[in-house]
Amino acid sequence: MTTRDIAIVFAIAAAVIVAVFAYVAVRSGGAAEIDYGAATRLRRAFFLGFAALLVVSLVLTLPRMPYPVPAGRVDRVVHVTGKQYAFALTDAPVTSLEGWEEGTYPQVAEVKTGSTVEFRVATLDVNHGFSVYSPDGELMAQTQAMPGYVNRLRLRFERPGTYTVFCLEYCGMGHHRMRGAIEVR
Ligand code: CUA
Repeated sequence: MTTRDIAIVFAIAAAVIVAVFAYVAVRSGGAAEIDYGAATRLRRAFFLGFAALLVVSLVLTLPRMPYPVPAGRVDRVVHVTGKQYAFALTDAPVTSLEGWEEGTYPQVAEVKTGSTVEFRVATLDVNHGFSVYSPDGELMAQTQAMPGYVNRLRLRFERPGTYTVFCLEYCGMGHHRMRGAIEVR
């Protein structure tokens, strides 16, 4: 959902609320006999209508959750290791601080267009947030890098370009420069 979509949804919701208030204001002229049977029927219709609306919204929006797990094969596994203040994107996991000190690890992973990548996200120190942004700056997915865990995130890269990785969890003074990239070609 883009900022524009959110603004449209907000405008529609606001218009509905204003319309309801205006309707009530116009119709509340004087006291009237209450027809309880009609009120109950109206209530039931409103409840059923609202429930149906909720079910339809759920069915339409659930498949668009921001954590897609494409079924089937994974074309590539990229190990992501966080450490203040860098991400290493490697083919083999970096499991120890000694290993981190010894090697200089790439902060860029190269991936083929149309492939499904499984990121295995870990950290050597504190919590970090591993996120992937599309070439036009939209957040595609994110997961936490947590001490003692390997979190998996599957993403399909349909379009070539440079995808940016940002740390989305404040992890210290150098948090803002903790980033990486995925080159899709
Ligand atoms: Cu790592 Cu913020």
